[in-house]
Formats: sequence, structure tokens, C-alpha cells
Amino acid sequence: MARVFSGIQPSGELHIGNYLGAVQNWVKLQYQHDCLFCVVDLHAITQPYDPATLAQRSLDMAIGLFASGIEPARAIVFVQSHVSEHTELNWLLNTVTPLGELERQTQFKDKSQRQESVPAGLLNYPVLQAADVLLYEATLVPVGEDQLQHLELMREIARRWNARFANGFAFPEPQALLSTAKRVLGLDGQAKMSKSLGNTIGLLDPPETIWEKLKPAATDPARVTRKDPGNPDICNIFTIHHGFSPPDTLKLVAHNCRTAGWGCLDCKRVLADNMIAALAPIRERAAVLQADPRTVTDLLRAGADRARAIARRTMDRVRRRMGFLGTPEA
Ligand code: TYM
Repeated sequence: MARVFSGIQPSGELHIGNYLGAVQNWVKLQYQHDCLFCVVDLHAITQPYDPATLAQRSLDMAIGLFASGIEPARAIVFVQSHVSEHTELNWLLNTVTPLGELERQTQFKDKSQRQESVPAGLLNYPVLQAADVLLYEATLVPVGEDQLQHLELMREIARRWNARFANGFAFPEPQALLSTAKRVLGLDGQAKMSKSLGNTIGLLDPPETIWEKLKPAATDPARVTRKDPGNPDICNIFTIHHGFSPPDTLKLVAHNCRTAGWGCLDCKRVLADNMIAALAPIRERAAVLQADPRTVTDLLRAGADRARAIARRTMDRVRRRMGFLGTPEA
């Protein structure tokens, strides 16, 4: 069985971009592999944030993951800051990471442009991400397309550490696993769906909100009037349909778009109905967990205990190979 690791930031909302791009895949992978899924709160603090809501956002993200179908009996689900080995390995890997590679990361360039004073943590973000995965010797990392550059750097960091220190133990080079919806655009049809851009549909949005958000959403820009035929292949609404509608419906939608048999609102109504039906059980499970936060924190504590046991083994090996003086036995 391969080991799978992936993470998600507790940015306040699990949206359908995260879900179709990554989390839906995580649910499937838990039946095939040894999986760890992490709420990466240490990554989330590299951007301006409110400490008063961070804990709740981590809890909400965990609730979203469990409600989406991740089963604590099958996968280890935990919060990154509960396993301090992540930050220790992060520091050690900093010493083999080339600064130039960090400065070249697109996400760093984008995010640093939006901040007046750029914290070093934002630059080192991908090193912590490398530590997350390498700590568990994971080989498969299910993510959306926006993470591919970080994955490439992660492999480079593993190679550099191995070249310098491997001796009977070496980090495997992790591979990205993309889903078919590897880049879901936001409702504006322009940028990636992202909480910070306010162009999302939340996984737990109530049915009325889903419909209100879908109604004005961007479609094929060439379809100006109801009579213009459209091209589903360049329509973001059709991409989202793939995540929620069965193959027969997809054919019908594509046909009615190309022949102008339906207007965009007709197409969106079908999508809204399918999306609302698919998300209803997730909302129900989330409501049960929201009413019982103690159970969720217990699950996360147990997840962190299991993760820590693996992480400690790795850190023992890493420390020894990097030449640190061992601590005396108590
Ligand atoms: P984050 O929190 O931004 O997103 C979580 C996952 O959702 C995917 N995703 C999308 N996929 C398709 N279309 C979209 N619009 C969309 N928006 C988000 C992301 O690609 C991601 O897979 N750096 C990571 C978190 C992380 C991590 C890790 C991931 C930290 N450590 C170790 C993998 C392995 C991030 O910010 O994801």
C-alpha cells in the first residue's frame, strides 16, 4: 500500500473547488491506500489572519472533511500544529533548500505582491509543505493543479537532503495525483475558485444560496443572447457539471448548449438541482458534527497521536543522519 498525504488550509470554508479538485479524491483514496489528511493551520498563519477565529476554522475544516466522507477508521485526520515534528523538519529542510527556488514560486510571487511587508514564513511556506509530506515518507499527494510547483520543489528538497545525508534511509520523491477537476474556476469564470477571491460555492451552503450564487455565474462569454449557441468546452458551469451530474445529463446539457435548445439559466437549474442533492448528505453529517464539537476534537487528538508516532520515527532517523548529539536517556 502506498502512503498518501495531503493538506488543506483552514481558510474558513471548504468550497467546491477544494472538494472537486482534492477532497473527493481523498475520500476514494482512503479505500486503497494508507492515508493522512491534515488541516494545515501553520500554513494558514503565513497570511494576515485573526487569532480569535483560527481554532474554530480548524475545527470547521475538520468537520467539513469528516462530513465529506473521510472516515477516521480509514484515514488519519489531524491538525498540523498538534504534531510539532512538522516544524522541526521544516527547519532542517530549510538548510538544504535553495533560496532562488523559493523566490521563483508563483504562489509566493502572487501572495507577496498583495502584502506590504512580506513575512519570511510566506517564502518558506513550500519548505513546511515538503516537511509535511516527507515526515511520513508519503509517495502520493492528491492536490489541485495550483500545487504542482510546490510538489516539484518538494522533490528537489528530498533529492538535496538525500544527496547530502542519505545513509540506509532516504526520503522517497513524492508524486502529485491530480483529479479530473484539477482547476475549478470561480463563479466569475476568470480566476481559480478561492475563498480569498469571494468567488466560491461553499460545500455547506444552503440550497437557496447555491441557486443565488449560480444564477449570475459566468458562462461561455460568446453566448450573449438566449438564441446564441454555446460551447460547453469553454464554459466553467459545464466543468462544474462534471463534478455533480451523471454522464447522460452531461450529454443532454452539451447538446442543448450547442443547439441553443436551453438557455444558460436552464442549464444552471439542472446543475443546481444535482449539486444540492449531492451536497445534502454532506450538510446533514456536518450539522451532526457541529452539534458535537467534543467528538471532533477527540477524533483529531487520536489522529495526531497516530501521526506523531510515525513522525517521531522519521525524525529519529533524520536527526541521526544529520549528525546531532543524541539526548541522554532519562
Ligand atoms: P489549499 O488549502 O489552498 O487547497 C486544498 C486543496 O484544494 C485544491 N484546490 C483546488 N483544486 C481545484 N480547483 C480549485 N479552484 C482549487 N482550490 C483549491 C488545492 O490544490 C489543494 O489540493 N499548500 C496547500 C496545503 C498543503 C498541502 C501540504 C497540500 C500544505 N501542506 C502537503 C499537499 C501536501 C494549500 O494551500 O491548499
